[in-house]
Amino acid sequence: MTPPIHLLDEIDSTNAEARRRAESGDAASQWIVARRQSAGRGRRGREWNSDTGNLFATLLTLTAKPPVEAAQITFVAALAVADLFDAFAVPGVVSIKWPNDVMLAGDKASGILIESGLHANGALWLAVGIGVNLAHAPEGTERPATSLAAHLRTDIAYPPSIDAAATVLAEAFAVWQARWDSLGFEPILDAWTARTTGLDGPCVARLGHETVEGIAEGVAQDGALRLRIADGALRLISAGDVFFGSDAHGRAA
Ligand code: BTN
Repeated sequence: MTPPIHLLDEIDSTNAEARRRAESGDAASQWIVARRQSAGRGRRGREWNSDTGNLFATLLTLTAKPPVEAAQITFVAALAVADLFDAFAVPGVVSIKWPNDVMLAGDKASGILIESGLHANGALWLAVGIGVNLAHAPEGTERPATSLAAHLRTDIAYPPSIDAAATVLAEAFAVWQARWDSLGFEPILDAWTARTTGLDGPCVARLGHETVEGIAEGVAQDGALRLRIADGALRLISAGDVFFGSDAHGRAA
């Protein structure tokens, strides 16, 4: 079943709101969606541009899974965003970049930020924050960004409204989440792998305090990126900023 969607005009951050609700004891699965965020946050402490027209959504959900397994929800989220884009974009432009950036024609068009904590009832709460560039893309980003508006099917004049996009996203998410819950991670990883590019070529991974360069060799069973480095060793990368293919060149510094 799809959790209810709470649509707000403005909030600091839908992830921050999800955290507040979880910490105040709210245990209901729910989507928190905002038309505008005053303090939208991205990965690694970055700001997430949150002007009106794009989708800012967070699914608050509780899980009995252990934290390492619960983190797999990031792949569920990427698949749901890819389905949302598929519903409106020209065929063939949607892809995923490890682990959860959904791209349009190779440029970033969405971002996912997952936060978690321990609920008073002992379960783990997850805030799956999803930003989707429906109408516009930020300028001045390290890599070019794009929006759905720039890749719409020719029979569609405008990107979907916030309500419509949130509904499509929530329904797609519920389908993938149910599949994950009933069948485990393997079918999720298979579907994700089929949509993901760059997993078998040059790669630079910018981690917390080091930058690692090598050749990507697909993903491990838990979704970690397998990176073969120059001395022949295999590094398993679970988080970081990763650049593939021609984007990898010149990014080792
Ligand atoms: C990234 O840096 O790629 C992740 C960006 C995540 C942005 C979304 S927008 C909805 C939710 N609320 C936030 O403050 N951040 C996430």
